[in-house]
Amino acid sequence: MRAFAGKLAVVTGGGTGMGRELVRQLVAEGCSVAMCDVSAKAMAETVRLIAAEPVPQGTRITSHIADVSDESQLIRFRDEVAGQHDTDHIHLLFNNAGIGGGGSLFNDTREDWERTFNVCWGGVYLGVRTFLPMLVAADEAHIVNTSSVNGFWASLGPSVSHTAYAAAKFAVKGFTEALVTDLALNAPHIKCSVVMPGHIGTSIVANSRKVMTGRDEDTLSDEDLARARERERIGRTGVDVARLTDEALQAAAAERHRRFLEEAPTTAAKAAAIILDGVREERWRILVGDDAHRMDQLVRADPEAAYSPQFFDRLTKEVGWRLGGAP
Ligand SMILES: NC(=O)c1ccc[n+]([C@@H]2O[C@H](COP(=O)([O-])OP(=O)(O)OC[C@H]3O[C@@H](n4cnc5c(N)ncnc54)[C@H](O)[C@@H]3O)[C@@H](O)[C@H]2O)c1
Repeated sequence: MRAFAGKLAVVTGGGTGMGRELVRQLVAEGCSVAMCDVSAKAMAETVRLIAAEPVPQGTRITSHIADVSDESQLIRFRDEVAGQHDTDHIHLLFNNAGIGGGGSLFNDTREDWERTFNVCWGGVYLGVRTFLPMLVAADEAHIVNTSSVNGFWASLGPSVSHTAYAAAKFAVKGFTEALVTDLALNAPHIKCSVVMPGHIGTSIVANSRKVMTGRDEDTLSDEDLARARERERIGRTGVDVARLTDEALQAAAAERHRRFLEEAPTTAAKAAAIILDGVREERWRILVGDDAHRMDQLVRADPEAAYSPQFFDRLTKEVGWRLGGAP
């Protein structure tokens, strides 16, 4: 798809981060957008930012509350898109919503593990299933599924358990790669891409907590503090969180959020521009950021070593990647 003007895009997780920037850049090009998110507050901010800029004539943006891990909510979202945009087809589907968490089979609850997996994998799978008829009905269409560097390297380093997110992101990558052939055989007017971002400056650290707890607030609740004490492992931060006061724990969470957002090598806006360029060029694999390209090379060069401490040392030196980098 060479141009987005006059098209209709669906973006999941459009409330913040890369999703918000995708919505903004699509709208700026004259593409109508229907976004969903679990946070009405975040989507209202996306709409406010767009309204502050000139919007090409005829471009419509609609917001829909929907949890992508719940098929019935996605079906309602799809029906709302069809009704509110008065159409039976969409041209672009960005399955972007995702959260981190539930990394360990030993130290995290099964509920958290499955929540992360069901959002990061289930959201992509169900998103494709739900919107497929509307993509088929378009004259040309493109599916964009967001995986991660954790879709080819299942780690955040040797001191962090990361099983749910990595499993989901590998699934998204495998599914999308296999979809290349399924679409070519059965619906050749639909293309697809898997997006593998490195560390992108977003609020995913805080947003993941909000989605996990169902509490859309920036500060940690008493329950969050207790969970942090219970779950945060000594070794990840080098701090024994059990001994920290509530204020110190709030400050540590805010600092982790700030560093993830502000010290990333790639901004969310730049990431969205790279993703949209990849779609225009019809590339099925879209690596986002120099760190992602370098990590891809390192893992391919020596896959057997990929989970050793020496590999991680090399990666942090060569990629400039720190612990607490990409989720
Ligand atoms: N930021 C990074 O470094 C990075 C790296 C690799 C991959 N990713 C992936 O990129 C995607 C976007 O992440 P981001 O960094 O922009 O995060 P973000 O937290 O800024 O944005 C994600 C949005 O998705 C929404 N969301 C979460 N769960 C949802 C659900 N169940 N249903 C609907 N909406 C939901 C959140 O409310 C949020 O608005 C995710 O899939 C993430 O895993 C991010």
